[in-house]
Amino acid sequence: MPNSQFSQNKLVNNIEMKDNMSENVSGVKPVVTTPVAKKDCCDKPEGCGNCMKGGMPLRKESLSFITLFMVGLTTLLAVLLINEKRSQVNNPTAMTQPETVVAMEYKMPASKVITTVVELPEPKIDGNLSLEETIQNRRSRRVYSDEPVTMAELSQILWSAQGETDEAGHRAAPSAKGAYPFSLYVVVRNVDGLDNGLYLYNPTNHTLGNLGMANAPERIVEAGVQDNSVTAPVVITLAASPAKMLEKFPDADPMPNVYMEGGHIGQNIYLQAESLEMGTVVTGGFDKMAVAKVLGLDVENEMIVYLVPFGHIGEAPEAEAAH
Ligand SMILES: Cc1cc2nc3c(=O)[nH]c(=O)nc-3n(C[C@H](O)[C@H](O)[C@H](O)COP(=O)(O)O)c2cc1C
Repeated sequence: MPNSQFSQNKLVNNIEMKDNMSENVSGVKPVVTTPVAKKDCCDKPEGCGNCMKGGMPLRKESLSFITLFMVGLTTLLAVLLINEKRSQVNNPTAMTQPETVVAMEYKMPASKVITTVVELPEPKIDGNLSLEETIQNRRSRRVYSDEPVTMAELSQILWSAQGETDEAGHRAAPSAKGAYPFSLYVVVRNVDGLDNGLYLYNPTNHTLGNLGMANAPERIVEAGVQDNSVTAPVVITLAASPAKMLEKFPDADPMPNVYMEGGHIGQNIYLQAESLEMGTVVTGGFDKMAVAKVLGLDVENEMIVYLVPFGHIGEAPEAEAAH
């Protein structure tokens, strides 16, 4: 191989051989000036081309091929990235398109069979605490006493969540274009003067429709809800119909608006509970599909966003208080 690298290696090896011979004969090692430093990685007498750091011998041809391959790969990736950026600039909605297509599949949830209607006491529009004090005091409270919830307290909580607050039908919590996609399913476990079971809140006439499921409190326990929902006298299920939001915004994914509205409703419940000096917590950490199924919801078209247990504040262990 007539390249200079090979010649240099040959020269180094020749000097080495001579060096060894001289030592054998005379026992004195002559000082030889090495013209080119020997590569540490190369221990083959015929030489091994260029060496990589770490001692792996590589021939020049291999290195050239790898370099070419890397340059080609980098160029290809750069071209792909530029094309992707260009298509995003030309079509800014491209990234939201697939979500919209999926969202269009929602339908209106099946209507429920109500056995009896229960009237709720008129809600009050004044309280003992100022709004500022209520906000200051608000905490998530997960432990409840055995004291039953009164009908007046239940009425107040449901009104704060979704009650109608004017003749035009506006509700206590805001809703995008007044879509109002939420239904409140109320699991009653310990309310004075009300049979245990599952009820649907009607904001228009402030009543509860009995859905005829007396064992609803036990059913949600079977579905694996958190301890707070196992012990609370009342558990409010915030279930949304994305199709109702789609009616107002046919071309948009309904779920961002649905989740934001769920947050508004949850906050109203928090503040009302605090103002009544009662306890609540919004919970999202449970199997929503399992709970929806045991409560007989239309699981294809109605989705639970929160379970909100509510009751009189119980003695919380220290760990809970610090949560
Ligand atoms: C979206 C959301 C989901 C939550 N899910 C749960 C939950 O599954 N279980 C729970 O005990 N608390 C839940 N919380 C309550 C938070 O743990 C609580 O707000 C947080 O610890 C702050 O405490 P504070 O509300 O007392 O200020 C949730 C809160 C939010 C906003």
